[in-house]
Amino acid sequence: MSHGFETLAIHAGQDPEARTGAVIPPIYQTSTYAQDAVGAPRQGYEYSRSGNPTRDALQECLAALEGGPVGLAFASGLAAEDTLLRTVCRPGDHVVIPDDAYGGTYRLFAKVAERWGLEYTPAKVSDPDAVRAAIRPGTTKIVWVETPTNPLLGIADIATLAGVAHDADALLVVDNTFASPYLQQPIAHGADVVVHSTTKYIGGHSDVVGGALIAADRSLGEELRYHQNAMGAVNGPFDAWLTLRGIKTLGVRMDRHCDNAERIAAYLDGHAKVGQVIYPGLPAHPGHEVAAKQMRRFGGMISFRAAGGEEHAVEICNRAKLFVLAESLGGVESLIEHPGRMTHASAAGSPLEVPGDLVRLSVGIETVDDLLADLEQALG
Ligand SMILES: Cc1ncc(COP(=O)(O)O)c(C=O)c1O
Repeated sequence: MSHGFETLAIHAGQDPEARTGAVIPPIYQTSTYAQDAVGAPRQGYEYSRSGNPTRDALQECLAALEGGPVGLAFASGLAAEDTLLRTVCRPGDHVVIPDDAYGGTYRLFAKVAERWGLEYTPAKVSDPDAVRAAIRPGTTKIVWVETPTNPLLGIADIATLAGVAHDADALLVVDNTFASPYLQQPIAHGADVVVHSTTKYIGGHSDVVGGALIAADRSLGEELRYHQNAMGAVNGPFDAWLTLRGIKTLGVRMDRHCDNAERIAAYLDGHAKVGQVIYPGLPAHPGHEVAAKQMRRFGGMISFRAAGGEEHAVEICNRAKLFVLAESLGGVESLIEHPGRMTHASAAGSPLEVPGDLVRLSVGIETVDDLLADLEQALG
C-alpha cells in the first residue's frame, strides 16, 4: 500500500526498533560492530563508514520521499555532489551546469573538478535550447540543474530537460534543495539523480549540515553507494538522527514557509523601495507556469533588487532584525543575506556572478505580520 508524503516522512525507514520497541530510531553512535564469527557481521554491519543503522533509517526515508530506489546521506551537500561527480565522470568528460547556482557548487566545478580534468559549460536552465546547445555529444555526461536556482530563482522544466539530456545519453541531475521533496519530486519528471543539501529545508532547523543523493535507477544507486563508502564523506549518526527529526515536519513546515513567502512577495511587489521581486509564485515570473506544473507550491525563498542599488541592498541586510543576517536557508527562522558579498562571493567575476543590488530572503515560519514589520523598517 502506498502512503502519503507526510506518512512517509514520519514512518519510512523508521519502524520501532526491534529490541526495545523504541519509537524513534536510536543514535547508533558506534564506529564498529562485534562480529559473530570471522566473515559473519550481524545484519551486514561491520564498520560505520560502510553502514550505520541511524544513517540507514535516514537514507530509506530520503529515498521514499523522492520516490527513488536508493537514497544516500553525506557529510554535506557538497560532499554528495563531489561523490556524484567522481562516480559518473572521468577526466576529459563534460558537464552542463546552471548559469545561476549555489556559489559553492560553482566553485566545486571551477576550482576543484576542472583541475582534475572535468570540463563544464554554464547554460541558462530556463532555456532548453541553450542547454541543448551547451551539450557536447559523446562527452557530456551530466546536465546539472537547480530548480529553483540559487539565488535568482530561475525555473528549469525538468521533464523537458530530461528529454534533452537523455537524447545525448547524459544524466539529468536536479539539485532539489530549494524546493524540497514536499514541493517537487524530480524523479517523477524524469530526473536521474536528485541532490540535496539536507542542511536546508530537509533538516529544517539550522542545526545540522548534511547532503543527499537519491538515484532513480538501482544500479546507478549501488554505484553511488560503493563510492560513498570508498570516498568516505558519510553523514554521522547524530547528524542523521537530527535530520530525521527535522524531516518528520517537512510537509507542515513547507506549507507555512509558502504561506509566509506568498504574503511577503505580494508586499514587496510594487513597494517603492524595491525594484524587481523574484518569486516563482508571482504570475509575472517567467518560470511561473513551469513551476506551477512541476511544484506543489512555490517555496520559501524570495530574492529582490533594492531600488537604491548595491549600498541600499547592504543597508537593508544590516538593518533587518528578525530576519537574521546569515548564510544558509530553509530553517524555521527567517534569514536575509547579500548573495554578491556572502553566499555567492566565490562566483564574482564568473558567468555566475550575481547582481550587486540583490537581496535574498529565506522566509521562516514566524508570525508573518512580524516579518512584514521587520522588512518595512529594514527597507528604510
Ligand atoms: C542549492 C544548494 N545546493 C548545494 C548546497 C551545498 O550544500 P552544503 O552547504 O550542505 O554543502 C547549497 C548550500 O547552500 C545550496 O544552497
